[in-house]
Parts: sequence; structure tokens; C-alpha cells
Amino acid sequence: MIKSMRIKLITIYFLLVFIAMSIVSVFIIQQFEQYHLESVSGNLIQIAGSIITTLQDTNWQHNKKDTQENIVFYEKMDIEIYVIDKDNNFTIISSTNIPYLNQNAMHILEPELILAAFNGDEREKDIISRSGETTSSKNIVFPLFDENNMIAGAVYLRKNLESIYKTLDQSKYILTRATLLALFITILLGYLIAKSITGPINDVTIKAEKMAKGDFDQIVEVKSNDEIGQLASMFNFLTARLKSSIQEVSSEKNKLDTIINYMADGLVAATETGEIIHTNPRALEILKLDEEAVHRKSFDEIFRELNPRLTLDYFKKESWSGSQIIDMGDGIKVRANYAPFTNETNTLAGIILLLQDVTEHEKLENMRKEFVANVSHELKTPLTTIKSYTETILDGTIEDKQLTQQFLNVIDSEVDRMTRLVRDLLQLSNLDFQQYKWNKKQVYIDDIIEKVLIKLELSAHNKQQILKYVKDCENIKINGDEDKIEQVISNIITNAIKYTNEEGQITIELLKEGDYAVISVEDNGIGIPAKDLSRVFERFYRVDKARSRELGGTGLGLSIAKQIIDSHEGTIKIVSGEGSGTKVTITLPVIEEMAESFVV
Ligand SMILES: Nc1ncnc2c1ncn2[C@@H]1O[C@H](COP(=O)(O)OP(=O)(O)O)[C@@H](O)[C@H]1O
Ligand SMILES: [Mg+2]
Repeated sequence: MIKSMRIKLITIYFLLVFIAMSIVSVFIIQQFEQYHLESVSGNLIQIAGSIITTLQDTNWQHNKKDTQENIVFYEKMDIEIYVIDKDNNFTIISSTNIPYLNQNAMHILEPELILAAFNGDEREKDIISRSGETTSSKNIVFPLFDENNMIAGAVYLRKNLESIYKTLDQSKYILTRATLLALFITILLGYLIAKSITGPINDVTIKAEKMAKGDFDQIVEVKSNDEIGQLASMFNFLTARLKSSIQEVSSEKNKLDTIINYMADGLVAATETGEIIHTNPRALEILKLDEEAVHRKSFDEIFRELNPRLTLDYFKKESWSGSQIIDMGDGIKVRANYAPFTNETNTLAGIILLLQDVTEHEKLENMRKEFVANVSHELKTPLTTIKSYTETILDGTIEDKQLTQQFLNVIDSEVDRMTRLVRDLLQLSNLDFQQYKWNKKQVYIDDIIEKVLIKLELSAHNKQQILKYVKDCENIKINGDEDKIEQVISNIITNAIKYTNEEGQITIELLKEGDYAVISVEDNGIGIPAKDLSRVFERFYRVDKARSRELGGTGLGLSIAKQIIDSHEGTIKIVSGEGSGTKVTITLPVIEEMAESFVV
């Protein structure tokens, strides 16, 4: 393209100069020729005039000798002169050209001119020879009158034009040479000018090509302030803008890629024809597919079997945006939120689908609903009892005071149960909202256990159970809230007493393992079935509701215990099996007592 542009420019210059030179040359040659011919003609007319005057004064037809003398005078001026006698059969009676004397003029000279002269006309004719066969000449003829003023002959003048045409040829040669020189200079200058124009354009093109390949460090040298210079500086400006824009775009893209790759939700993008164009690692994890498999399949192939409403046909029919739940099996629930995206012409280009694992969310939601149902139920049961007993008493139909007393005892115990329930709920809520003010200080865990054992001895005794306490070492100190730790241990041992039949055995053991105090409470009671074991820490979860209620339980004890132990950076675990007893193990971090160990 650049090459052709150079050639074009040179060709245009060449043609312009060529045309100009040609026009000038033709004009000059023509003017030159015309000028010479006119001057020859003027000269001949003047000579003819004087000859005619001289001849007509003498009796030219008869004084041939005089006539000849008058004419010979002009011989040296290189002009041929012929005096033709009409009456004497067109004979040349006098001439500067001696050999033609007395010859018939019609055979030698231009007959049409001679005839014209005899008609009284003055005629002029140029004979221009191009081939060299004849000689170029200017011929001019005038009529000659006799003493009676009648046309009796003619004066014929002829001037050889060869010298003029030779000069003209020479001029043509000079002009041709000048034209060639001018053309040569034009080509040279044209080449230089074209190069100065196309050079920078070429430079810009080469650099633009490099930019197209991704190398944006291109700067064009600005050599002038003209249009080309402006093009160069505009190119540099564009390059800088493009570079910064591309950097901006690529950093935005990297940011977006990072967000997409590390986001907690899965993302799938597909074209409106169903071709998968993007998936993030989380989406592959949720869909249990690898990248290759995803790109081999179409959108419909992947999602139709998960949920028939997640197909492009369904979107076309219903809506391109919405939300569906996918059941992935094994209790895993995924919410798919989808929305369309458009291309630059604002027409639908595809769909973006976000996959959100809502298993935990659903579970929590269910737990919340269950919790509300449980609370209402737990409160309603004692209230119903209280209501029926008070109604009966208020009826006034019961005469028996002892029976009334009995009724009032039931009401009292139901109120107690409600109080316990409300207290436990309040405590849980305080723990949940971290509003509970811990009263943590250094306490001996063995002291706490012993305190609890004293309190519960009677209950165990009532069921003829054996409470056995095994202690590995003395004075295990922990940093804790004494009342709360006591509540936990009391709850665990109470459970053991409650869920162990009469004459059972409960073993409480305290030992130190590494940096932890380990408290275990083991019974040989009814145990917990394997299917319930993982749920006993849930609020209100009880293996046997009726039995628990009967025994005064709220179903909140273990969940409160877990909260408290967690807050002390400890652990609580239950090992149990149906009918094979239960072992609850609590660990709590101990405080090493340097001073005391020295004393020992
Ligand atoms: N030592 C145990 N033996 C058998 N089952 C137990 C034992 N401890 C707890 N459980 C089971 O765990 C459930 C939850 O215990 P907990 O939260 O203390 O509630 P509650 O004692 O008020 O019923 C109990 O209802 C019972 O079914
Ligand atoms: Mg309990």
C-alpha cells in the first residue's frame, strides 16, 4: 500500500510536469514558427511592393532587360523572384533564377497562385516539406498591370524556409532536452517528497501492527508540526490512552476473575444456545463435575436432570430470570438464581446462573421453626394442666380438702416446670446474644464436683443408685465461672440419675490429661440410640419426650451445657448405645500452678 502510494505520488508529479512542459513547448514552437513566417511574409510583401512600383513605371513587358536588372538586385537577399507574362503564354520573362528564364511558369511555380494573381488577387502560400522531397518555401504572388491598367502578368516571390525550420527543429530538440531534465528532477524530488510523506505513515503502520500483537510500548517520533506530525502525536496519544485503558480493563478483569474464582457461590454462564462459556471452581464442586465434562455438555444436559425447570426451553417460555431449588441428594439443597445478560446491541446473549448451597440455611430455618413449635408446645402443656385444675377448684364442687391440696400441688409443680423452662430459655438466649456476664476466676474443679455430689446424693440414694467418685489428682485449677460449671456438671449427673434405672451405678471420674482436666460421668442406664446421639445437643431434643417431661426435664440442659463448655474453650462428648449406658466426657483447660508444684 505504501509502495503504491509512493508510485502514485511520483506518477502524479511526473504527469503534471510532463503535461506542463508539453503545453509550454508546443506553444513556444507554434509562436516561434508563426513569428518567423509572418516576418518573412512582411518582408516579401514589402519587396514585392517596391518591385511592382518599379516595374509598372517602366514598360516591363517590353523592356525585358530593364526588368531583369531591377530584379537581379534582389538575388543576394536569397529571395527568388519571377516576373510572369500572362499574354506571352505564362512565360517567365525575368527572374533571379536564371535557369528558369523563358520557361512556362505554370510548370515550375504554383499554378493556383499564378491563376489567382491573373484574377487580380494577391495570394500567399506556404509549402512546408516534412519529408525533405521538396523544400519548404513561402510563395507570394501579386498581379502586374500594363500601361492600360489591365492585368498583364504577375510577380511571384519565393523564399526558402529551410533555415527557419532548421532553427525550429533545434528549438524543439532543446525543449525536449529541457523537458527530460525537468522530468528527471521531478522524479527525484517526487521520490524524496513521497518518502517524506509515506515514511512517517509507514512508521505508524509498522507500530500499529506491533500494537495489534499486544505490544503497547510503541512511540512514533514526531518530526514536524504539519498534518503528518499531528498524525504521529495523535498516534502516541492514542497509544498511551489505549495502554492505560487496557491496563485498567485487565486489572478489572483480574479482580473480577479473583472474585468469581473465590466466591462462595457457584457461577455458570451459558450462551442462549446452551453452550457453557464459564464456570467457577465452586460451581464444579457443587455440580460434582470436572471442567472438561462441563464444556462437553450443554446447559440443558447438565441441569435438566437436576431440575426440569432449569432448561432454556423453560426460560424461553416462562422467564429468563428467577430462582429454583435443586435437590442434589444426601440432603444437600442448592438454590439456583438465574438472570439473562445481553450483548452490545442489547439483545439476549445468554444466562448467568448462581448456585448457592442452602443446605445449612434450610436446616437452620427448620430448626428455628421447630424451636418455636417446641417452645409453644412446652408452655402450652403445663398451662393446660394448670387451667383445668384451677377451673375444677374454682368450680367449688370439690368438698375434699385433701383433694384440693393435691390439685394445688400439681399446679405448683407445673408452675415450677414453666419457671424452669423460662429460666433455661432465658439463659440460652443470653448465651446466644453473648449478653451473659461471665464471672470467670480461678477455681478448683474437684471442689465443684464434690459440691454437686453432695447436692445430688439424695436423689441417687432415693433410686438406690451408687454414686462413685474417682479422682486421679488433687487441686486441678481452671479459669471458669464456678456457678456455670457447677450447672453443667449437675445437669450431666442429674441426667445420669434420671436415665438410669434403680440400683444402677454412676461413676464420676476426674483426671488430668496434658493441659486438660477430664471429667467423665458414666452410667449403666438406658443409653441413647445411635440415631439420636448426634442430636441430643439440639434444643428440646429428647429421646423420649414423655419420659423426660415426667422426670422434670426441659430438653435444654445439654444444649446449655455445650454452650457453657464452648465458652470455656473445652469440649463435651457423649458415647452411648441403646441399653448399654452412657458416658459423657467434658474437658476443660487447666491452669498450671508453678508455686504449688514446687511445694510438692
Ligand atoms: N445419661 C443419659 N442416659 C440416657 N439418655 C440421656 C442421658 N443424658 C441425656 N439423655 C438424653 O438426652 C436428652 C437431652 O438431655 P437434656 O438436654 O439434659 O434434656 P432433659 O434432661 O431435660 O430431657 C434427654 O431427654 C435424654 O433422652
Ligand atoms: Mg437434663
